[in-house]
Amino acid sequence: MKIDFVALDKDNWEECVLLWSSDDQFVTPNLRSIAEAQFYPKAISRAIFVSEEMVGYSMYGEDEDDAEAWAIDRFMISGKFRRKGYGLEALRQILEMGRTKGFQKFITSTAIKNEAMQNLLSKVGFSTRYEVKDGEYLYYKDEKPS
Ligand SMILES: CC(C)(COP(=O)(O)OP(=O)(O)OC[C@H]1O[C@@H](n2cnc3c(N)ncnc32)[C@H](O)[C@@H]1OP(=O)(O)O)[C@@H](O)C(=O)NCCC(=O)NCCS
Repeated sequence: MKIDFVALDKDNWEECVLLWSSDDQFVTPNLRSIAEAQFYPKAISRAIFVSEEMVGYSMYGEDEDDAEAWAIDRFMISGKFRRKGYGLEALRQILEMGRTKGFQKFITSTAIKNEAMQNLLSKVGFSTRYEVKDGEYLYYKDEKPS
């Protein structure tokens, strides 16, 4: 599967905004995420493409509060492209980008009722101690050799 992470620009940001729908209550609207990313220089804000088609959006990068952690702040695959394995592959690649930059600690969070994302996170090796922050469970993946 060919996945590309493409920077937002004047030609593609509106398409990316429209990938989010009001049914997607577990993730911040892409419009807001794209705006927010302008104010966080460490945030990497990307449209996710599969075979030249825009299918999702993610914001990730070095965590704002923990310079040792690679954080996935936003992650979504648009409704009609779900359950095709794109989320799994895109998430694996985002983790790999972190590893390439030397990160061994990965963090994210997801809504308490977001079973789909929780299953996906388990699949790539995240776990949770069910600590809640801003209404979401925190998830960790620590690859530091013990
Ligand atoms: C969560 C999300 C990213 C999954 O993306 P996806 O491309 O559909 O996921 P995949 O097809 O790669 O599925 C990978 C695994 O995730 C889990 N999963 C995905 N959708 C699921 C669902 N509706 N119910 C339960 N588990 C689900 C399964 O474990 C699945 O593996 P399987 O197909 O072997 O059962 C997508 O549903 C989404 O964007 N949802 C709305 C936004 C959101 O909640 N984002 C997370 C914010 S933290």
